[in-house]
Amino acid sequence: MKAVAWHGTHDVRVDTVPDPAIERPTDAIIRVTSSGICGSDLHLYEVLGPFIDAGDILGHEPMGVVEAVGAEVEHIKPGDRVVIPFNISCGHCHMCSKGLQSQCETTQGHDQGTGASLLGYTKLYGQVPGGQAELLRVPQAHYGPIKVPEGPPDDRFVYLSDVLPTAWQAVEYADVPEGETVLVLGLGPIGEMCTRIAQHRGAGRVLAVDLVPERLQRAHAHGVETLDLESYDGELPAAVRDMTDGRGPISVIDAVGMEAHGAPVGRLAHRLGGLLPAAVARQVIEKAGIDRLSALHAAIELVQRGGTISLSGVYGGAISPMPLIQMFDKQITMRMGQANVKRWIDDLLPLVTDESDPLGVEDFATHRVPLDEAPHAYEIFQKKQDGAFKVLLQP
Ligand SMILES: NC(=O)c1ccc[n+]([C@@H]2O[C@H](COP(=O)([O-])OP(=O)(O)OC[C@H]3O[C@@H](n4cnc5c(N)ncnc54)[C@H](O)[C@@H]3O)[C@@H](O)[C@H]2O)c1
Ligand SMILES: [Zn+2]
Ligand SMILES: [Zn+2]
Repeated sequence: MKAVAWHGTHDVRVDTVPDPAIERPTDAIIRVTSSGICGSDLHLYEVLGPFIDAGDILGHEPMGVVEAVGAEVEHIKPGDRVVIPFNISCGHCHMCSKGLQSQCETTQGHDQGTGASLLGYTKLYGQVPGGQAELLRVPQAHYGPIKVPEGPPDDRFVYLSDVLPTAWQAVEYADVPEGETVLVLGLGPIGEMCTRIAQHRGAGRVLAVDLVPERLQRAHAHGVETLDLESYDGELPAAVRDMTDGRGPISVIDAVGMEAHGAPVGRLAHRLGGLLPAAVARQVIEKAGIDRLSALHAAIELVQRGGTISLSGVYGGAISPMPLIQMFDKQITMRMGQANVKRWIDDLLPLVTDESDPLGVEDFATHRVPLDEAPHAYEIFQKKQDGAFKVLLQP
């Protein structure tokens, strides 16, 4: 089959590899029909190379049609249309029973000390072959796959794998009191979906910050009060306070993560991560700060005293410096983590099947391209060229 594989920093290729097969009774094989490229894939494209091997198959946002199931997989059968959650969870361990599927004890990376395995996401998370491919082996398929109805286009359902539950959890963790104000940093797919879900769930005002003109326009078009980072030059906190009775928003969501714009020191560390031999670079990344912290530090500066910060952007450094004095003094609550995908599906399914499309999923993608165009798609998504906002690969 054809699959999108990592070959180095800024180097993904479409390789021909052996078809996957059922290996365990809890596996399924699906034929992929749509597979998203995510901001998290850009971390691999740029920073986390030392944790991935050349030839590893990328992708964690797939949906498709079931081809085969193992003996213990009962809720789906060949021919069913399914979406596959990005985290691989068993559904019956202590963590899964608490709705913490991203911490699944059955699939945790015990050797790495990390949470649940993820599709297509490095040795830190199980080195499981990903879903930007014609076929995918789905582990823990007795639990993970989400059955969706026939008929509507893939765009209706594919974001159940990641974007929708991630944004839903980000808004949930932001704990926005009814009618009050939330500010979202970053208007990539995750940030924009956070603004839509916050509006849907009754936030009074939704503010958002980015620096890509088309992304600001998209959000503005659905009623978000947008701020262009580039036009404030250090004055963003003052501008936000002016818009919010001098106090700042009660909740802030960081939907940017470790590659934030405007952090020169971190950028150097990132480049080093790409140049050093993998074993040395892994040490640098694990033991030092690789995060570009400008968005996270802005969140701490912007949030109202006593308010909540919800982090869905991914960070990875072990000693990334944090302004603890300010966090303590402002009495900030912070929640974070990978999305517990299955936990939010019952909330989300009614919204994606609603004909009025309340979260705007049908028009969400900007590019739908064949697998062969993946290298170009990664490049334009990373460089934010050609209006690339959300790319769906369609094998
Ligand atoms: N927690 C989870 O389960 C989960 C799931 C999916 C994605 N993520 C993470 O969410 C983040 C966003 O993902 P995405 O797909 O939307 O990616 P993306 O890269 O398209 O979006 C990031 C956006 O942030 C903007 N930005 C950069 N620096 C900024 C700054 N200093 N202030 C404000 N905006 C800034 C960029 O212009 C871009 O539009 C990534 O870190 C990704 O890894 C987390
Ligand atoms: Zn993703
Ligand atoms: Zn589990």
